[in-house]
Amino acid sequence: MTEYQFTNNWFGGNIPTWDYLMNQFKPATILEIGSFEGRSTCYIIEKCSSHHAIDVTCIDSWEGGVEEHQKGTAMSEIERRFDHNVALAQSRAKNPVTLNKIKMHSVPACCRLMATRGEQAFDLIYVDGSHQAPDVLADAVLAFNLLRVGGLMIFDDYLWCMEAQGKEDPLNMPKPAIDAFMTLYARKMKIISGAPIYQIYAQKTGR
Ligand SMILES: C[S@@+](CC[C@H](N)C(=O)[O-])C[C@H]1O[C@@H](n2cnc3c(N)ncnc32)[C@H](O)[C@@H]1O
Repeated sequence: MTEYQFTNNWFGGNIPTWDYLMNQFKPATILEIGSFEGRSTCYIIEKCSSHHAIDVTCIDSWEGGVEEHQKGTAMSEIERRFDHNVALAQSRAKNPVTLNKIKMHSVPACCRLMATRGEQAFDLIYVDGSHQAPDVLADAVLAFNLLRVGGLMIFDDYLWCMEAQGKEDPLNMPKPAIDAFMTLYARKMKIISGAPIYQIYAQKTGR
């Protein structure tokens, strides 16, 4: 149990921006929608626990999204690696880490969190679950209610697209949903400028 078991490094390129933001925001209550094998979760655990004790909630169906279905990814193996990786990250953490794993689809899981933890329960919410536009919009709206005023919401894969160039399906990509959400919540969310465009970083400014 000495090494992480990752088969991808989707998250690695985000680390310089995250390091900067985590040092500024120092989130203590963190919600991740979409954890896969825990690459981003382990970063969050190691980085954020360097400041103080943290509480991390991970929502994932561990059924995979359309891209995993297409590739035939064995999701039970992905979930096994998640369990291994986050246990290792917890053991390396500088301060206590409470880890809440919720194996459910994101919409009912967020509704459950709203009932059990209440509105504005989280300092940081990372939205990286389904990449289909209607799902991303639902995750964003629910996440908004779970995020405290002043808290940080991060969307992954703003520019992600499964189809080849010229054959894009706008309902099978996060961008239209993130654009719709940020437009409708423009008086309550502020984009943090100056960061690479592949992720969207936004602060909640009002309820
Ligand atoms: C891109 S991966 C997450 C990657 C992870 N954040 C990382 O950086 O390593 C997306 C994950 O979202 C999960 N997922 C897809 N649709 C979902 C849904 N509607 N509810 C919950 N989880 C979902 C998939 O099972 C998959 O593990």
